[in-house]
Amino acid sequence: MPNTTDIKNAPIGVIDSGIGGITVLRELLRTCPTENFVYIGDDANSPYGTRTAEDIQQLSLALIKHPKLVSIKALVVACNTITAAALDDIAQNYEGPVFGVIEPGIEEVLATTKNNHVGILATTATVESSVFDRALKSANPDIEVTSVGAPKLHEFAENNLDLVLGAPTQEIKECVVEHIAPFIDAGCDTILLACTHFPPYEALIRDIVGPDVNIIAPSVNTAKALRDTLEEKDLANQTTAKPNYEIISTAGNDEKFKKFSELLLK
Ligand code: DGL
Repeated sequence: MPNTTDIKNAPIGVIDSGIGGITVLRELLRTCPTENFVYIGDDANSPYGTRTAEDIQQLSLALIKHPKLVSIKALVVACNTITAAALDDIAQNYEGPVFGVIEPGIEEVLATTKNNHVGILATTATVESSVFDRALKSANPDIEVTSVGAPKLHEFAENNLDLVLGAPTQEIKECVVEHIAPFIDAGCDTILLACTHFPPYEALIRDIVGPDVNIIAPSVNTAKALRDTLEEKDLANQTTAKPNYEIISTAGNDEKFKKFSELLLK
């Protein structure tokens, strides 16, 4: 049994289907700056967003058995698609605190929308799971949810993050316009970026929807939930050693992960 100091110093595990969860890691590092993180991206099996729920459950349960996650003190499921399909299975198979990205996103949406018209931008698998529709409607039956699956936006961010962030091509801009149009048509006052790959599009979406629409990334609330739980459970790292993070790809394509992290974590 590790002693209390060892547990507090232990890293926090972060799992994702691939590279996109680095946008969540960015928020975790900002909100919990004294913690250490081990990030595992399952690029060997990515994307998850076009897979079946059964497939995603199996892959996720295998992912949490990664040797690098053996001595973590908490687990963050950075991926919306994994959270939607497998959070319960993961929680049953890992005994420490587990954090997904869907509940924090839903809480933020409920606290933000004024006109009860909400847009969800996600992967096809997350849209098909209807997890957001169910949760939002059970919290507030008056909410109207417009969901858009956006595999093409996922693909651009995956392969051309530098362009998305810095110099979007006409093709990227048009793709964003096309995917945001249903939210504008439905009069959404709040859009949830319910895929790890979508926070980098925030500026482009803002240009289209104007200043009055709320654009939410669930990772902000997830990071706060992690920080608060670590405090409550007396698990926060209190050493003064420089915190660090390790990013591992199950496909071993470290250069791709390095490039993506350099763009997001600089
Ligand atoms: N990380 C996933 C999410 O947040 C998207 C990537 C994938 O399809 O694997 O939904």
